[in-house]
Amino acid sequence: MASFYNVFSLRVRGMTNLVKFLRKFNAFAYRSTGTDAAVAQAETVGRDTRDGKDGRKSLPTLLVERQEQAEKSVLISCQSKANEKKFLKYLSRHGDIKKYFFYETYGMYAVVEFASQDSVASLLDTAAVPSVSHESMVPFKSRLLSLRNPSLVDLSNQQSGLQCQPQTTIPINELIQRLSKDESVDRQITSLTEFYQLTEENIRLRFLVCSLLKDIAAAYFPECTIKPFGSSVNGFGKLGCDLDMFLDLDSISGWNVKMPKSGLFLEYQMKRANSERAVTQSILSVIGECMDHFGPGCVGVQKILNARCPLVRFSHQPSGFQCDLTANNRVAMKSTELLYMYGELDPRVRSLVFTVRCWARTHGVTSSIPGAWITNFSLTVMVLFFLQKRSPPIIPTLDHLQDLAGPTDKCIIEGNNCTFVSDFSKVQIPSNKETLEQLLCEFFEFYATFPFSRMSINIRKGKEQNKPEVAPLHIQNPFETSLNISKNVNTTQLDHFIALCQESSWLFNHRETVTLRGVGGDNTATPWGLATLLLPSQVAGIKRHKKRRREPASERIKGLLESLKNKNQGKKS
Ligand code: GTP
Ligand code: MG
Repeated sequence: MASFYNVFSLRVRGMTNLVKFLRKFNAFAYRSTGTDAAVAQAETVGRDTRDGKDGRKSLPTLLVERQEQAEKSVLISCQSKANEKKFLKYLSRHGDIKKYFFYETYGMYAVVEFASQDSVASLLDTAAVPSVSHESMVPFKSRLLSLRNPSLVDLSNQQSGLQCQPQTTIPINELIQRLSKDESVDRQITSLTEFYQLTEENIRLRFLVCSLLKDIAAAYFPECTIKPFGSSVNGFGKLGCDLDMFLDLDSISGWNVKMPKSGLFLEYQMKRANSERAVTQSILSVIGECMDHFGPGCVGVQKILNARCPLVRFSHQPSGFQCDLTANNRVAMKSTELLYMYGELDPRVRSLVFTVRCWARTHGVTSSIPGAWITNFSLTVMVLFFLQKRSPPIIPTLDHLQDLAGPTDKCIIEGNNCTFVSDFSKVQIPSNKETLEQLLCEFFEFYATFPFSRMSINIRKGKEQNKPEVAPLHIQNPFETSLNISKNVNTTQLDHFIALCQESSWLFNHRETVTLRGVGGDNTATPWGLATLLLPSQVAGIKRHKKRRREPASERIKGLLESLKNKNQGKKS
């Protein structure tokens, strides 16, 4: 334990010296007047960060930009009645503020991005160490701070306090109501995507949390980075989704370091272990301890080191994120990049994935608890496969993306070929004009009749293949091709999915369900179209009521349509 403490105190001292040096060196660069004029106003931050030849950026480019933003940001706990103007004026003494926003989880927080990293150093240099008599403190300084000056709190005559950015989705009932007021199924699908997708602010917060955690891991591995992957960055993330991260030690571990070919050179002596997995486990074990004992805001740390992919799971309380930290997980980063690319190639991809994910969650096809359920990742790959099977296809196969790759795209990870093109403009897609409504309906039809017992889903080939193993659902891992990403799914769960696809397909084809029926006097709308498919009491009834299960599906649906009609007639009369 003593060695832990030494490393941290050295690091903290090192940081303090660095801060002092930077302050002297850039004394004029960051200065701002501290007047109202210098206070940055909230900017409307769009979701679109496109540029480049064809207007799109690759995920690695975006990650670098986001990481730079995060390095210049701080997270500040503040009282809800804090005076925004005074707060910003105070902070801008350390330099210009580029962006800021407030949000609420367990209390009110502000994310503040400065124009320069020196401003952060300056701010940290002036922050006080808390002094409380009845508790002891772990002396670890970070960019997670608390606003303590009571004079900034303007209790008099302040009406609404700070304006907060939402960090969670609207409840399902509210979603159903809002969708029911839309005039077309296409519009409903687009609305659902807009309500659910991560906001600009939420993405910023995710990168900031990675950056804060990186500062903790950097006590041992100063050159490390912590990168988000999975739905936080692949474009399919829903507000409230977990934060998957990996500790990237590539700059140290020698994976991409070139050895000099000739002449003398020195190399570091490093401790050896039996396997890469053993190294990953011991690194995560120590970093997990650090998060647990020293990480401000990190609670409920669990080390799950014997999983196929070892991880540390915890809650980051100030952000409200459930975090999974892995290490040495480069293949997952490539899958993330691939999913992101597919989402960028055609806007219908994301909309369909969001809708199918929402539908699946509502009916218990997916769950936040690990088990025999289909995962969101598997479900996303199923949507991608379906879109590859359209005629003409909406997205290309992975093999085709590999064929388009240039020399700099080449990527082999642990013997797996993870190469695919990074330049979006090289991907030419034939024109497919199907509407979102048609696609959703066809999706249900496609999987209602898919030969799951014989065939495997394969996005590399864009064709179903003979199943290489007996698992009920076989979805080939796109990069580790001998693996099945849905190995966990049992027959009951697959049957549940198929039954729901059958019912949804039936409902969709029935005009009574997909016709807008208007808004009642109390401003409540009768569910229709997509909203009908999200009503739990109807489609999911199959699972809940044993008695009903024996009835033929069509009988239940007829009953449902009858009740909808009656309700509607009741309203009209
Ligand atoms: P949600 O967290 O449910 O919103 O979706 P997610 O895509 O983030 O899924 P999850 O958190 O379960 O996993 C994070 C990422 O890990 C995924 O996006 C994939 O890139 C990768 N991943 C998840 N499950 C598997 C798997 O079974 N095999 C492989 N190779 N990668 C996986
Ligand atoms: Mg995730």
